[in-house]
Amino acid sequence: MVCLGNICRSPTAEGVLLQKLSEAGLSEAVVVDSAGTGDWHIGQNPDKRAQAHALARGYDISALRARQITPQDFERFDFVLAMDHKNLATLRALCPPARQGRIKLLMDFAPAAAPADIADPFFGEAADFEHVIDCCERASAGLIETLAECVDAAPKKSQA
Ligand code: 4NP
Repeated sequence: MVCLGNICRSPTAEGVLLQKLSEAGLSEAVVVDSAGTGDWHIGQNPDKRAQAHALARGYDISALRARQITPQDFERFDFVLAMDHKNLATLRALCPPARQGRIKLLMDFAPAAAPADIADPFFGEAADFEHVIDCCERASAGLIETLAECVDAAPKKSQA
């Protein structure tokens, strides 16, 4: 899961997906992590507002620490999922040609009516943080279907 700062959207997406994987019995089969394309918040916990909104909806993301995307991420993870088109473009520019197919928008996995981008809530208000969680929940349902198929198809670990 990749956003700009790795303190609002992508840690929320990580927390939501981890919870949904647990509920689906897939925790052992899938590795989930998040990162930012930017370096401003490396080592920080998620934004306090993101933590509070996530916790109120059952997702404890307090222990996560921000990090920046690395070249190794394109080798390690089968899915590199951007929160919006801006971060998608940054990832495409960083990724080797052979791994471009791993990069997608998280919202590619949501129903067609959903927005393609998860808007940055950093300068927003409470409703914007709730919207991030709504988006992550909608996309996670579809993503888990895809991951379950990958797990069925390959006995080795699939990584997202
Ligand atoms: P995120 O939100 O990309 O969802 O983690 C942001 C956090 C911090 C900044 C921008 C976006 N910032 O400019 O510091």
